[in-house]
Amino acid sequence: MKKISNRKIFIQTMGCQMNVYDSEQIFRQMSLSGYEPTDSIDEADIIICNTCSIREKAEQKAFSFLGRLAALKAVNPGLIIAMGGCVAQQEGYGVLRRLPHVDLVFGTHAISRLPDLVSSIKRRRCRLVDVEQAESIGPDDFLAKPGGNSEVTAFVTIMRGCDNYCSYCVVPYVRGRESSRHPDEVIQEIEKLVSQGVREVTLLGQNVNSYGKKEGLSSFSELLEKINKINGLERIRFTTSHPKDLSDELMKAFTRLEKLCNHIHLPVQSGSDRVLKRMNRRYTREAYLKKIEALRTLRPDVAITSDIIVGFPGESDEDFQQTLSLVHEVGFDGLFAFMYSDRPNAPAARYREKVAEQEKKRRLQQLLSVQSQYTLDSNRALEGSVKPILVEGTGKDKENRQSGRGLIWKGRTTCNKIVHFKTPDMQKDDNQILTGRVMDIMINRALPHCLWGEPVHMPSKVVKGAVCHAS
Ligand code: SAH
Ligand code: SF4
Ligand code: F3S
Repeated sequence: MKKISNRKIFIQTMGCQMNVYDSEQIFRQMSLSGYEPTDSIDEADIIICNTCSIREKAEQKAFSFLGRLAALKAVNPGLIIAMGGCVAQQEGYGVLRRLPHVDLVFGTHAISRLPDLVSSIKRRRCRLVDVEQAESIGPDDFLAKPGGNSEVTAFVTIMRGCDNYCSYCVVPYVRGRESSRHPDEVIQEIEKLVSQGVREVTLLGQNVNSYGKKEGLSSFSELLEKINKINGLERIRFTTSHPKDLSDELMKAFTRLEKLCNHIHLPVQSGSDRVLKRMNRRYTREAYLKKIEALRTLRPDVAITSDIIVGFPGESDEDFQQTLSLVHEVGFDGLFAFMYSDRPNAPAARYREKVAEQEKKRRLQQLLSVQSQYTLDSNRALEGSVKPILVEGTGKDKENRQSGRGLIWKGRTTCNKIVHFKTPDMQKDDNQILTGRVMDIMINRALPHCLWGEPVHMPSKVVKGAVCHAS
């Protein structure tokens, strides 16, 4: 295919939502220097892999993706290949030694310097590493989204780094010290997103409950209150909240703020006090359960999801049974479960009594099978009810081809469950009509990972063939 520009950038994003947001920041920074995104790796003049280091497998995935690019570089020596994100921060110069075809390694605080780094590489034909970390967030660290191509939902990072030092976790080392963005900046970013068509924002931070504390800015609940007042914004979500810092004030926000969705992700990690202590989580099983009870008393329809690590060093079968019993006791609406993995610098890497891989796998399977019933039950509990669904768009092209006549749509409940519904009378050209609307959907079928339903009525403003974002 003939190239029209030599400024095409391809970004491969791995890891968490924060990395998804960072990849958007990378695009925004590079577009200032005239770069345009491409979905085709063969067309790209710069390939960036934005990496994750949370578990060993994630790190291996990053190296194997970049390793495969050696062949492309061999046929196109002008191609710039860069590693960004958490593995880049962790490994620094080591990446250049390990991967001779990589030109640039930039850490988690270097995104605003990326255009300069790239132009230096082009000018001086050198290889560069920038893994400098700053104490606080700089004025150019976050750029607003340029217009065009708006999505219905968006992530907004409100803080960076983490000071919690859970003993298994690499994040404090690769993301640096905790620091918060000024509330005015956050509000401005959200207002701009809303003006571009965004209806739902998810506020991101490793521990949003400590937002603003260090800097003496407004508290997280105060920030939520301000965001709740933004006209045109329909829904607010946030992630992640550390159980030790989940305040009464924040719990009450779930009853006061009408835009705050009834879902909280509250990672528990383990149900055993002995393990929680060695993980340096600084709460007990009982304290966690009390917070769950308080939340459910205040907001009975709140959906609660969590993260759990199995096979932490020294986790006995008895400890694991405690985790299973906590899962039964809470009945989570959803759960992410992980096998423990040693991480560089994290103290638990040096703990003895490692649990065998086979045993970790067994525990993971058992945990997931216990949870699957609760997830299905929580989905089934919605069958027969009518829920407001924020429509994010149509299903994948393949799904829509297979569905025969009509279109399949995808949206979410306020409690963050994915809902599909079909509009038999619509065709491919109508695939924007409902996007961004809140529709009342009768839920009639619960599956393990999603729900199916049908519109109670079609909004009166929908005219076939017209594109309309208002609800
Ligand atoms: N800040 C968030 C978590 C971010 S990391 C919080 O405190 O909840 C996402 C999840 O990855 C963690 O909740 C944990 O369950 C898992 N995780 C982190 N380090 C891990 C490790 N070394 N091995 C396995 N899972 C890990
Ligand atoms: Fe990691 Fe703990 Fe910080 Fe979460 S709170 S990012 S698990 S150190
Ligand atoms: Fe991974 Fe870094 Fe996020 S380690 S989970 S990409 S903060």
